[in-house]
Amino acid sequence: MTVHIGAKPGEIAETVLLPGDPYRAKWAAETFLEDAVCVNKVRGMLGFTGTWKGNRVTIHGTGMGMPSLSIYVNELIQEYGAKTLIRIGSCGAIQENINVRDVVIAMATTSTTSMNNSVFHGANFAPCADWALLKAAVTAAEKRDTPVHVGNIFSSDVFYSEHPDLDTQLERHNVLAVEMEAAELYTLAARHNARALAVLTVSDHLKTHEALPSDQRERSFGDMVEIALEAAFN
Ligand code: HPA
Repeated sequence: MTVHIGAKPGEIAETVLLPGDPYRAKWAAETFLEDAVCVNKVRGMLGFTGTWKGNRVTIHGTGMGMPSLSIYVNELIQEYGAKTLIRIGSCGAIQENINVRDVVIAMATTSTTSMNNSVFHGANFAPCADWALLKAAVTAAEKRDTPVHVGNIFSSDVFYSEHPDLDTQLERHNVLAVEMEAAELYTLAARHNARALAVLTVSDHLKTHEALPSDQRERSFGDMVEIALEAAFN
């Protein structure tokens, strides 16, 4: 047990999928894993361990935002020995050529988070994906004919932004989409010698204001889970 995770030693797999929403973790475990067992319920942040095609996997919620993800990922890596961590979540598209339901794979992340300021003494660290995972995820998406975009994303500290001008600059600099967790995941993986990737489904579009209807969210989320699993065990 750690401060925030109730799993016993050995109950967390080396490969962990990380949705923000704990109920998504439950749904994905019940839908894609065999023999899934709930290994964490502390604060309602559900985690499940089971197998996929014979491979041991944990699917664990992170909550929303980098401070919340940071707590779980620190404990998963440092206390439970997680080695491959893949965020599966939603994002808002910024570029016009990206549509709702498309998959965005984060090669790199931009953020305004202050979490790294004291670590790098003012230098701008560039959190980036694990290359082998990134390559395998792109191959998996292409095999499934899922429209996929690979590039820089923005990990925001706020969902309700007071700075629409920032969106304009992000669009201008070819940042693909916005979400709220990947930069800290990539940073922690780099710090602790683990592999990380973020595979994201576009749930809404910042420019067109199109949004995925709730009845279609599950199907699109399922594509992303399978892409992440195929990448992890490629
Ligand atoms: N902003 C931040 N995070 C998000 C968004 C958004 O518009 N859509 C999905 N996750």
